[in-house]
Amino acid sequence: MKDPIPLATFPHTPDAGAERAARIERRWAATSIAIIALLVVIAAYAGVHQAVMPQSRIETADPRTLHLAGEFIESNLGSDLQPDGSVMVRAIGQQYSFTPQCIVVPTGTPINFRATSADVVHGFLIDGTTVNTMLVPGYVSTISTRFETPGERHMPCHEFCGTGHEGMWGKLRVIDKTAFQQMAANRRRLSCVE
Ligand code: CUA
Repeated sequence: MKDPIPLATFPHTPDAGAERAARIERRWAATSIAIIALLVVIAAYAGVHQAVMPQSRIETADPRTLHLAGEFIESNLGSDLQPDGSVMVRAIGQQYSFTPQCIVVPTGTPINFRATSADVVHGFLIDGTTVNTMLVPGYVSTISTRFETPGERHMPCHEFCGTGHEGMWGKLRVIDKTAFQQMAANRRRLSCVE
């Protein structure tokens, strides 16, 4: 039987190991802080330059009186051609539908959405675009976009809002600019609800 290898064969230097561990730990701590700092800068930049959430301007709308007075009364919902050529769309989310259920907008036009909720938190998302915001009762959500090609897109509610959540869908129909302007000449608030 061989003698066990004497421990002294492996020089044990605890100080070097601890120092190395501390160095690696500091490096990871610095990396984590750098990532957080980068995210804060991205969020601040997006907030200031693109007015994305959190909304740069807080506007309120009382969900209890939405249907009685103010800009979200039913006759004021839908798409509205503005004097400057842009289109303002006003909409409401409620358990479990959007009003209007089908939103119509023109191609090649700046579109501004103003929407709110009549009850609980809903999601406002237009499939295949960057339009994605929450409808929070008591607050007006605003988001701007434009569409270059005609077509139809889905608008699924993407915030769980109750038992009927999965059935809460709307539609957005993008139509040719001239056709939209012809429609707007006859009616003030447009939608594609049939
Ligand atoms: Cu409304 Cu989910």
